[in-house]
Order: sequence, then C-alpha cells, then structure tokens
Amino acid sequence: MPLPSATNLSFRSDAVDKFTGIIAAIAERGWAVVDDFLPGEWVAELREEQQRQSLRGDFHCAATGRLDTLRQDAETRGDRILWLERHNAGPAQRQYLELLEELRLAVNHELFLGLFGQETHAAVYPPGRGYRRHLDGFRKGNLRTLTGILYLNPRWRKEDGGALRMFLDDAPGGDCLEVLPEAGRFVVFLSERFEHEVATTQRLRWSVTSWFSRRSAA
Ligand code: OGA
Ligand code: MN
Repeated sequence: MPLPSATNLSFRSDAVDKFTGIIAAIAERGWAVVDDFLPGEWVAELREEQQRQSLRGDFHCAATGRLDTLRQDAETRGDRILWLERHNAGPAQRQYLELLEELRLAVNHELFLGLFGQETHAAVYPPGRGYRRHLDGFRKGNLRTLTGILYLNPRWRKEDGGALRMFLDDAPGGDCLEVLPEAGRFVVFLSERFEHEVATTQRLRWSVTSWFSRRSAA
C-alpha cells in the first residue's frame, strides 16, 4: 500500500531536519549514527517491498572486488542484493531514493565533497552470514566517498548478532563501535576512511545501502 501523500510530506521534512546534524558529524569526525531517521511506517513499507522482491527472486548473491576481479565468495560476503533504480523500486523505495538525492545535494552544498551521484542496493543477510572487515571501494570507475546504510529490522537484540562493527579512530572504548541493525537507524561514514564488518547474523537482516561517489580522475 503506498504511503498517503500528505503524510509523506511531513515524513520527508522530518528526515530533512536531520540532515544538519548528519552533515556536522561528517565534517567533524567522518561518521554519524542516527536513530529514527525515517518513521516506522516508512521503514515497514521499505521492509515489505524488499521482502516481496526477495520472494519474487529479484535478489542475487553479492560480489566483492573491482569489476575485473569480481568474486562471489559467501565466506567473505554473505548478503543477497538488489540494485535499486527508479524503474524497479517500489513506492517507498522510490521516495527513499529521492530523499538520498536531497541528502547528496545538502552534503555537497555544505562540505564540497563533489558527490555527483549515488548507487543504492537493498540487501538481506541470511542467518549464518556476514561481511568480513573491509573498506568500501571502487565500482564502475567511481570513487565511493560516503556510505549510508538504513536498517529495517524491528526489535533487533544483541544476541541476534549481525552488528555493524566500525573500526573508528576514536571509537568509545578504543577498538570498534558496534551498531545493531535496528529499524529506522541510519549510519553514514566516509567510505575510504573507516574499515567495517558485519558480524555473523542469527536472523534475516534487511538493509538498504547507498554510496555517494565522486568522479575518478581516470
Ligand atoms: C556493505 C556493508 C554494512 C551493513 O554493504 O559494504 O559494509 O551494516 N554493509 O550492512
Ligand atoms: Mn561496506
């Protein structure tokens, strides 16, 4: 069911209100974790759209590496993904893509990162899977600059596993920050600066990951 349009407007502006804090955090330390980035109804729609796409068989195994050395290796990276574009996105996903576009423009306006575009995929990690420690890199000649991940899983508990572990230079406690993939939580970080991993999940783990890129010199 599409979101009622009157509600959409206020949903959208609630999220846009959070841009200032996100941009300040990126400028100051290169990362941010924002709870309730989107309201529960929107997150539920996003989850249901992904679940339907997954049931239809639209998702495929993710690969790692540059285009010339792409590898599919479930030990390294165990998620299944669907690249989202306007033409294959559901209504809630399309609105989310539009919101990301607004975020891209706002970041460019404030931080001059020269982000020219974004790529976004829906992802699901089946139980027993994760993603080994890595840096988000290079794809199709673009330099991934900013990573943004929205989680879609209500009532996630620590024992469900599947935490995003971010190896920050200033993590509280020194080593890494563990972020549970709770519904509505949005994580953003400088792609080339912070290594991160997804701990093995015990539960189906739904998310939407986006990269904002600048052009490579080549
Ligand atoms: C990725 C990634 C982290 C997460 O897709 O590159 O690191 O928490 N995802 O889903
Ligand atoms: Mn990553």
